[in-house]
Amino acid sequence: MGFRTLGGAGDLKGKRALVRVDFNVPMDGGRITDDTRLRAALPTIHALSVAGAKIALLAHFDRPKGKRVPEMSLKPIIGPLSKLLEQPVAWADDCVGPEAEAVVAGLENGGVALLENLRFHAGEEKNDPAFADQLARLGDLYVDDAFSAAHRAHASTEGLAHRLPAYPGLSMQRELEALEAALGSPKRPVLGIVGGSKVSTKIDLLKNLVGGKLDALAIGGGMANTFLFAQGHDVGASLCERDLKATALEILAEAKANGCEILLPVDLAVATELRAGVKPSIRGLDEVGADDKIFDAGPKSADRVKAAMDASATLIWNGPLGVFEVPPFDAATVATARHAAELAKAGKLVAVAGGGDTVAALHAAGVTADFTFVSTAGGAFLEWMEGKTLPGVAALEV
Ligand code: 3PG
Repeated sequence: MGFRTLGGAGDLKGKRALVRVDFNVPMDGGRITDDTRLRAALPTIHALSVAGAKIALLAHFDRPKGKRVPEMSLKPIIGPLSKLLEQPVAWADDCVGPEAEAVVAGLENGGVALLENLRFHAGEEKNDPAFADQLARLGDLYVDDAFSAAHRAHASTEGLAHRLPAYPGLSMQRELEALEAALGSPKRPVLGIVGGSKVSTKIDLLKNLVGGKLDALAIGGGMANTFLFAQGHDVGASLCERDLKATALEILAEAKANGCEILLPVDLAVATELRAGVKPSIRGLDEVGADDKIFDAGPKSADRVKAAMDASATLIWNGPLGVFEVPPFDAATVATARHAAELAKAGKLVAVAGGGDTVAALHAAGVTADFTFVSTAGGAFLEWMEGKTLPGVAALEV
């Protein structure tokens, strides 16, 4: 199984390219607060434009559930997008039907149009064949550049790929290559870091990773407390899913059976309240008091993770090691993230990370640019780490 590449699409002059992008960007009062996803779409749009295609951008915004919700219109994207593209962007008030068809047909070669929110139609999320047919009428080829929506089997992410010649966009292609390098056929040894507050949201992910994909796994964040508790340590007043003791022990046993070394914290940064600037106490595993709350891994634990990075060829990271939003409880996350970035920059480590909190944590540590690849996909990245087939990716395979 493989993928076509846009470069192999032949002469695109005058061809209508239906490009699925993810413009589900954070907005505040109609203003985009982070345009990363807009920027991610630029290389594909540029390439198609230079090739003379007529580009119709398909996207969703928020979850209008099949109804026209004016606050969820994609119209506010037009201005920022045309500024980034340095060319005008035409607008169609609907993503299917005569208006959309006329707007796309009216584009000059190299021109770009954005069509209104796909999810204003119930057929989008239902992957309704009739709706997918309506969309397909707008294009001669389909380009999917929305990895972050590829875990959805919707008309625009899955159905269209069966109706038109289908290609991954350049961002999608880069993402697939990075993910393949991290978990598909990685250079070993492979180290995983999984953090975040709860084991319950990452059981499938942990089980997939310890089942032979990794040589070592560092567990951090609130979820490490559940593992420490399962091993018999007192975690005081810390966040802990006591009912998941058996699950945690199962994961540890599975890791052992598969030769995956588990790195749990060996020291802890605790405080009685979560407040920026509060001075944490560094405690050993059996020194956590009844009122103490664990908010970060301690310095020895961070050093152990750094040493594990030194001994690895590939790193795959999802989830922070502590409450990174509230310094100084970002210390372990920042120290280890900087170390990974240095190794990646020196060509000694393939460092791939993803997931909402992880991206924010790496960004706060100022290391995003030095990582090999940082995925901005949330749910899609997690499902991929869980080993699930992403419908939007599977549909592109040839
Ligand atoms: C995202 O923001 O993760 C994607 O755009 C998918 O959005 P959804 O969770 O509403 O399907």
